[in-house]
Amino acid sequence: MKRRVTKAIFPVAGLGTRFLPATKSIPKEIMTLVDRPLIQYAIDEARAAGIKEFIFVTSRGKGALEDYFDHAPILESALRKKGKKDLLECLKATNMDSGAIAYIRQHRALGLGHAVWCARRLIANEPFAVILPDDVIAAEKPCLQQMVEAYRETGGCMVAAMEVPPEAASSYGVLDVKEDMGSMVRVNSMVEKPAPGEAPSNLAVIGRYILSPNVLQNLNRLKSGAGGEIQLTDAIADEIKSGRDVYGYRFRGQRFDCGSKAGFLQATVAFGLAHAELRDEFGEYLREMVSIPHAAQ
Ligand code: G1P
Repeated sequence: MKRRVTKAIFPVAGLGTRFLPATKSIPKEIMTLVDRPLIQYAIDEARAAGIKEFIFVTSRGKGALEDYFDHAPILESALRKKGKKDLLECLKATNMDSGAIAYIRQHRALGLGHAVWCARRLIANEPFAVILPDDVIAAEKPCLQQMVEAYRETGGCMVAAMEVPPEAASSYGVLDVKEDMGSMVRVNSMVEKPAPGEAPSNLAVIGRYILSPNVLQNLNRLKSGAGGEIQLTDAIADEIKSGRDVYGYRFRGQRFDCGSKAGFLQATVAFGLAHAELRDEFGEYLREMVSIPHAAQ
């Protein structure tokens, strides 16, 4: 089995109800984290990991997302005429090669596993990545790149993993660990959104996956699981039942849950403070807000 991962699926069909009324007319993935839409962070991470084909699983009302990835020749020539080189570069950095993006419609909201399954014909028989754009990860080396490097050694299936407070485990896919090797664990089984008190550990799945195409075959059975939805977690767990290896990868970095308002605000603060243009002014404002006395110079 080849271990080069060049295709990634971005499930972006969700309604984004937690951000209503904003998401009445804009897809959640276009919402802006400092100065870039959420989806751009996911794309940049995928590119850094060597992804060449980007597959978006969309739904009705996501047109703005497709438009975002169009080249913008009129805007580009206006910026060129005005000599605004920096803005031009910033715009060009978002351009995607022709044919690099594909859009697949998920016609019914049947769950994450179903969304991934909708892209099966574009994946065919090779390993692929899945990135959930709601999970934004700030890291020196982008999370998916860390995983791709680890995956070259392991093969199999790999999910990003992170310790969460035990009381939060029922919001995640959770790993039952067979062997803990530090930055990596071998997984015994995994369960989607376990009932409170029933989680096998507090090691949760975060939205980055490198999967074997077998997972798509497992999804062919279209069994519904937690919440009545077809769960990606279950299809990965089926791999273990078939005697194949699944690994959890403890990535180095900070994850923000941009699917929640609090997480989005936290990410805005963290990325704002990391932004060269904003760092000083915004940092100053935050210090005033929380009344921390200025450090002696
Ligand atoms: C999804 C997955 C879950 C994972 C989580 C990470 O859940 O189903 O296994 O732990 O993403 O963010 P969702 O948050 O879409 O309910």
